[in-house]
Amino acid sequence: MKKVLFSALLLAGFVANVQAQEIPEDIKSILQKNTCLACHKADAKLVGPAYKDIAKKKYSNEKIVELIANPKPSNWPGYPPMAPMKNISKDDALKVAGWINSLAPKSAAKGKKKA
Ligand code: HEC
Repeated sequence: MKKVLFSALLLAGFVANVQAQEIPEDIKSILQKNTCLACHKADAKLVGPAYKDIAKKKYSNEKIVELIANPKPSNWPGYPPMAPMKNISKDDALKVAGWINSLAPKSAAKGKKKA
């Protein structure tokens, strides 16, 4: 029994570690430079929604770029409105958008809910 518990803890630690490193370096530097990480995490709600949850909205990359410059707070009831982020370059915004969409669950299209 003890052994099982230990393995479970080890696995949990491993999973947490993987999630913490989820943002590739090039994307991370863009997000850091533009202060996005002050309000967003890849996989958890912070001030703004997790990028993983934004991915579930299935926006096109172009739509995400547009929303970064002109956020629509009505898309996220219960959150404070995000200020328009106009300083991020189109190129950088497009890279971020592509990465956000890469976080979408691959096979959860049928509305499988995970807490
Ligand atoms: C001061 C906090 C803050 C900062 C800084 C911030 N965000 Fe947000 N973001 C939010 C909040 C809150 C929401 C949800 C409410 C909204 O959309 O206005 C949000 C929503 C979003 C959405 C979803 C838009 C939608 O309509 O679905 C995207 C994409 C996004 N942010 C990307 C970014 C990127 C990229 C940056 C950096 C360039 C950034 N955010 C910086 C707080 C922030």
